[in-house]
Amino acid sequence: MQILILYSTIEGHTAKIAKKLADAFEDLDNEVFLSVTSDPGYCDPGTFDATILCAPIHMGSYPGDFIDYIENWKSALSQVPNALVTSSLMIACADEDEQTEAKSYPTKLTKQTGWQPSQVYNVAGSLNYPEYGFFKRWLMKRAAQTENWPDQTDKEHDFTDWKALKTFAKQFADSLKKEVA
Ligand SMILES: Cc1cc2nc3c(=O)[nH]c(=O)nc-3n(C[C@H](O)[C@H](O)[C@H](O)COP(=O)(O)O)c2cc1C
Repeated sequence: MQILILYSTIEGHTAKIAKKLADAFEDLDNEVFLSVTSDPGYCDPGTFDATILCAPIHMGSYPGDFIDYIENWKSALSQVPNALVTSSLMIACADEDEQTEAKSYPTKLTKQTGWQPSQVYNVAGSLNYPEYGFFKRWLMKRAAQTENWPDQTDKEHDFTDWKALKTFAKQFADSLKKEVA
């Protein structure tokens, strides 16, 4: 099958997630086209066997280029099986209200754009202190102290469950096979 994976990223972690998904689909004998929503090139998502869109949450929102892409391509996206993969830190919070907030990001995106993804996967992102400028590092260190996350700022702290992400890819690929059977 031909699978299009498009992603948006601010500090690079969602790019790693998208690449990991691409590797997992290729290992399952699919052909993967990987690009970014800010510069997808000439490719119509409706002509692939499936499309996966990946993006992070920053200040409660998806990146602007990601929202623009969905608004421009939502009808083509809806023609094929698709999934929205959202990376956030709130999904890794112990507090239930914060987890609920994290789970609401995809629903808010649907309300905003009108695109209803066929599958939704929420993945914990990373605290990537070395990539932050002074203000962001200060902000995220404060958030980390409230949430009991690591506040050692000389390295990245990765919360992603890479094994679970691979399992999601396998389940998505299996669901595609069932659709064509
Ligand atoms: C300035 C800033 C704001 C963020 N705001 C949120 C937020 O509102 N909700 C959330 O769950 N995660 C938030 N995060 C965490 C990011 O979603 C997480 O770090 C993600 O892995 C970033 O992906 P990227 O490296 O692809 O940009 C924020 C991170 C930063 C640096």
